[in-house]
Amino acid sequence: MTKALFLSLASCLLVVNQAKFPVLGRCEVAKLMSQEDLDGYEGYYLSDWLCLAFVESGFNVSKINENADGSFDYGIFQINSHYWCNDYQSHSENLCHVDCEELLDANLLSSINCAKMIVSSGGGMNNWIKWKLHCLGRPLSYWMTGCHL
Ligand SMILES: *[C@@H]1O[C@H](CO)[C@@H](O)[C@H](O)[C@H]1NC(C)=O
Repeated sequence: MTKALFLSLASCLLVVNQAKFPVLGRCEVAKLMSQEDLDGYEGYYLSDWLCLAFVESGFNVSKINENADGSFDYGIFQINSHYWCNDYQSHSENLCHVDCEELLDANLLSSINCAKMIVSSGGGMNNWIKWKLHCLGRPLSYWMTGCHL
């Protein structure tokens, strides 16, 4: 196989792979968060938001996880279908007035809007159990290392 053919094949595979499993880069996530004014939102800085997103999804925007109660968690912030979004499968309060599928969009807009609502609802980021376990009270500034926004 020629080198050129190999390279074009390899880049094809890469594109397919990204479309199927879109895991965003840390600084890419930081940039999108910054554009949507998350830095300082409800007293949480970008490093807090990055830690939250990483422990919840590993920056995998298409992550869906089923919970023991039959509800599902969607997207980069693993937003729950019982309270926050409608997945048309089980009862939902749909407090964010959004389809859960939209929370899988790689532009993060719907996820960020809904996350803003969640942190404003009382309890802040303590609404996310993994935040409490892995981010709360820890030094987090290194999450922004090398990100030039
Ligand atoms: C991202 O999440 C999807 C849906 O849960 C999963 O199928 C996929 O394997 C995940 N990708 C990675 C790289 O973990």
